[in-house]
Amino acid sequence: MGERPIILVTRRLPEAVEARLLRDFDARLNPDDRLLSEDEILALAEGCDGILTSAIDRMPGSLIRRLPERVKIIATFSVGVDHIDLAAARARGIIVTNTPDVLTDATADVAILLLLAAARRLTEGSRLVREGKWIGWRPTQLLGLGLQGKNLGIVGMGRIGLAVARRARAFGLSIHYHNRNRLPPEKEEGAVYHETLETLLPLCPFVSLHCPLTAETRHMINRKTIELMPPEAVLVNTARGGLVDDEALIAALKSGRLFAAGLDVFEGEPNLHPGYLELDNVVLLPHLGSATREARNAMGFRCLYNLDCFFSGRPVPDALT
Ligand code: DGY
Repeated sequence: MGERPIILVTRRLPEAVEARLLRDFDARLNPDDRLLSEDEILALAEGCDGILTSAIDRMPGSLIRRLPERVKIIATFSVGVDHIDLAAARARGIIVTNTPDVLTDATADVAILLLLAAARRLTEGSRLVREGKWIGWRPTQLLGLGLQGKNLGIVGMGRIGLAVARRARAFGLSIHYHNRNRLPPEKEEGAVYHETLETLLPLCPFVSLHCPLTAETRHMINRKTIELMPPEAVLVNTARGGLVDDEALIAALKSGRLFAAGLDVFEGEPNLHPGYLELDNVVLLPHLGSATREARNAMGFRCLYNLDCFFSGRPVPDALT
């Protein structure tokens, strides 16, 4: 290893983060912010000690197994790690780190934003005004759904799920949740635990997804599980697009079986299913959950802290492998 560790940085990062990277590492930046192909990542990783990657750069086993021997750490600028084959990294002795905690509030805010926007028909209202078609207030215009006194079902009660629950209570929602494990009562704060989606969904006119994407959770929202929801329910997804079977959700939104959806993430993004674009009862955002200046800086510095620890021989706080 040279004097300063050499780090391949796959995406452009906030200015302050790049400045610190350049100060302490020999950083190979991506100033054009171009999405790199697997082959480009392999070529650029030649001679590198580590890779600072992001949620959008896929690192399957086929890539990880071909990385130069010298690469010993992959720090991802994300809390989600479904884009990285952790088992392959473990097998190669590569440490993978993520950025928990620092984006919790930003992401929970967007979940609530989408919940309100979907329930209150933001897409239609905004379009009416922007297209100059609003002819004035009417008692029956664009009536949405009130939240007060109803149940919100949270699927995945980790840090972000808990932060959404805290916010949702302020809107008068009661919390039900499904999680791999039941939380201790002090964390539940009265939320009702469901061991399965089958018992959770029928009770929840609002549902928000906050679990990781894995082989088990892929398409957990599908034709069958949508049928379990109360008529005219609202679905929010700020976790991962792959949790939802797009065809099933689009059909349910089209038929009115679901009232609306608020989506920040999409399977195969940025190429979302074109069916969504034809629907008025869906609010669409371009994966903005963690997109505040504060959160994105903190995510970058969290990556750097993990790299600092690794290269100075200290325990790596967010090591997943
Ligand atoms: C993550 O961190 O996993 C988000 O999807 C991007 O902030």
